[in-house]
Parts: sequence; C-alpha cells; structure tokens
Amino acid sequence: MPVIHLIAHDGTAMPLQVPEGHSVMQAAVAAGVRGIVGECGGSAMCATCHVYVDAAWADKVQPALANELEMLECTSSERRPESRLSCQLKVHAGLDGLVVRLPATQQ
Ligand code: FES
Repeated sequence: MPVIHLIAHDGTAMPLQVPEGHSVMQAAVAAGVRGIVGECGGSAMCATCHVYVDAAWADKVQPALANELEMLECTSSERRPESRLSCQLKVHAGLDGLVVRLPATQQ
C-alpha cells in the first residue's frame, strides 16, 4: 500500500498508508489528521483540504482540472504554485512516498 508523507505546518511528519484509489484527503480525514477538514466530502467545493505538493512530486501527481483550479482561489491560506486540493489527489502505486505539506489554516 502506498505511503504518503503529510508534513504539518509545524513540521511534524505524519506518514499515512493509503489504499490505492483513495484520495489523500480521505486518508487524512480517516486518520484524524488535524489540518485537513474535507468539509464537502471530496467534491472540490470547499477548499478545506488544501495542501502544498512537494516540488519533487509536482510532475507525478495528476494535473488539476478547471474546477479544482477555480476552488483553489478560495483557500484560507496562501495559494502557491504547488497548491492542490488533496481530495483530487488519487493515490496509486506511483505516488508511494509522495510528500505534501499542510497550510497554516483551512478555514
Ligand atoms: S474536500 Fe472539499 S474541496 Fe476537497
């Protein structure tokens, strides 16, 4: 099972095993990770699952679709080039080791 490394805003590392096909948001919420809310349940409608994808992984994750890019305009913390909605990051074997950082706030 792929392992995703979440890095909290304070630098705390949180490795998570994520079943293939699940999103990073689903795995984080199921594990009770503070810092990812997932208010809309994963339909790219709330931006409370905002994360920063590590630069080394930027070209390995699926590109953001138009609805995600639009919702990224509504993040609570600063939007950066590496900003993504973690509900749109579906995990597969090729993402084993993915590193994502959590923003300071989600709401
Ligand atoms: S969970 Fe709402 S946008 Fe990702």
